[in-house]
Amino acid sequence: MCSSKLEKVLDGEAQWPPPLWLMRQAGRYLPEYRAVRSKAGDFLSLCHDPALAAEVTLQPIERFGFDAAIIFSDILVVPDALGRKVHFAEGEGPRLEPITEAAEIDGLPLEPDWTKLQPTVEALKLVRAALPAEKALLGFCGAPWTVATYMIAGRGTPDQAPARLFAYRQPEVFEKLLQKIVAVSADYLIAQLRAGASAVQIFDSWAGVLPPAEFERWCIGPVRDLIMKVRSVIPDARIIGFPRGATGHGLVEAGRSWNVQGLSVDTAGDISEMRRLLGPKPALQGNLDPLVLMAGGPALDAAIDRLLSAVKGTLFIANLGHGILQHTPVAHVERLVARIRAN
Ligand code: CP3
Repeated sequence: MCSSKLEKVLDGEAQWPPPLWLMRQAGRYLPEYRAVRSKAGDFLSLCHDPALAAEVTLQPIERFGFDAAIIFSDILVVPDALGRKVHFAEGEGPRLEPITEAAEIDGLPLEPDWTKLQPTVEALKLVRAALPAEKALLGFCGAPWTVATYMIAGRGTPDQAPARLFAYRQPEVFEKLLQKIVAVSADYLIAQLRAGASAVQIFDSWAGVLPPAEFERWCIGPVRDLIMKVRSVIPDARIIGFPRGATGHGLVEAGRSWNVQGLSVDTAGDISEMRRLLGPKPALQGNLDPLVLMAGGPALDAAIDRLLSAVKGTLFIANLGHGILQHTPVAHVERLVARIRAN
């Protein structure tokens, strides 16, 4: 089977125009997503229904012709599979039972409840069967640090203070929690790759709140452990890391110690400077501001043109620096696709 544009870039072959997909591309900005979502009831029921999850995964590919589909699920299915009940309060984001004591971490089950993870694996198989060969299919999981921040706090917080405090006060216990997440996430990513994912992305959305020593200990180390576990079973697994908030030394450290084929970057760093710091590899992905996509108009055109001229001839995958925002007009996404493809 010929590989997709996105796989070619990850394998070291630059493409022009670059392949394009958007984080959270199946989401509430799309009317057809909102229709399926209301049919499914709550968000986790949608994640746990392979046929509906496959349907919404394919919606943005059908509408925009993106170069990659990302399987529809959430990073919080892993804590859910570890028995930490997750629910999504309408308009408020995720809620979990917070972890306050070491005993709760010792009490986590040895094996996850696969009935919470297997529907996503089944959805991947359905999408792969329906997706044209020239489109890539991405699997994903949350990085151990980011998943742990939600498990400790029981919700999203602006600075992840609860998890940071827990890690300072009880580092050995916190380490046990991260290793637990590493073990489950490795098996989960292996299952996703076997089900047909062309590559997997590891989202460390909260890496940026950590000071350098903690970044090394709670972001770099556990993600490296996770990658090594996946590669011990699937040596040529294509992996994209996303240490959100890392732009300088931290990004170089991720590139050096993870040995990934791709690094997704947020909006803060200068793309040419990050490329210079890293050298020609790995591929870089992202950097476009989700707010400029929401704004549209001349600001969007200028941002796209600036980004494209900076990455021409390099290993690059076009994407946003973070997920697409709910109030982004569909017409702006169409404009983005057209402007990139006009190159
Ligand atoms: O990118 C994709 O299209 C694939 C699906 C995907 C979702 N979440 C669907 C989702 C992916 C890759 C994620 C990752 C995720 N989930 C992250 C890491 C990336 C990031 O955004 O930083 C995090 C931190 C989460 C946890 C999470 N899930 C939060 C904080 C929220 C609430 C915020 C919000 O936008 O409502 C979610 C809910 C969520 N995950 C939605 C979607 C489409 C919205 C739920 C809905 O439809 O009501």
